[in-house]
Amino acid sequence: TIPSNVPGKVLDWYDAHARTLPWRAAPGTPAPDPYRVWLSEVMLQQTTVTAVKDYFAKFTSRWPGVCDLAAASDEDVMAAWAGLGYYARARNLLACAREVAARGGIFPDTEEGLRALPGLGAYTAAAVAAIAFGRRAVVVDANVERVVTRLFALDAPLPGSRPAIRALTDTITPDRRAGDFAQALMDMGATVCTARAPRCLLCPIAADCRARAMGAPERFPVKAPK
Ligand code: ADE
Repeated sequence: TIPSNVPGKVLDWYDAHARTLPWRAAPGTPAPDPYRVWLSEVMLQQTTVTAVKDYFAKFTSRWPGVCDLAAASDEDVMAAWAGLGYYARARNLLACAREVAARGGIFPDTEEGLRALPGLGAYTAAAVAAIAFGRRAVVVDANVERVVTRLFALDAPLPGSRPAIRALTDTITPDRRAGDFAQALMDMGATVCTARAPRCLLCPIAADCRARAMGAPERFPVKAPK
């Protein structure tokens, strides 16, 4: 069958089943603070949601806004980061906070503007633009890759398939609520469309999923041999 109203089904699922996470705005409330979205997305790169929660609480109580973080010493921030790993991220975090503080504490509100900040790669810029500023951006992390390669039964192997995955994600990304849509795919990937034993009976787009129709969702994403 042809995928139909995939974004609508995904957003309806999100309204009912979104995980409650400390960096998200409560459903139906205004967009969350860009500082909190940015901080969480930087922490969530290479680190699980469970591990990030405590660090996020620690950072935001100690440094409630981007200018507070910018004013912290390198040593204090590195010590607070200890345990999260990938220390280059902490150095970039502080460089970025200082850059934003120098601009009056206001984050750029476009993907392009965000991309120019220290340490913001394509993923983080897209995520912050969509989640904090309501911009239409194509947000692809490993969970999104799994959902999308299954939905379209994309045979091409990772990592070479990344441009194709991005293009397919673009075709299903809605003009409105792109941030909720991205977070819905992340939550679906984490809780329903899992790597080993996907729970297709709980999936809002099971009827549209080509991998499911083939009877082999866990075959995707295909990975190039190492
Ligand atoms: N992983 C990275 N960013 C996330 C987010 N905003 N929600 C859930 N999982 C994520």
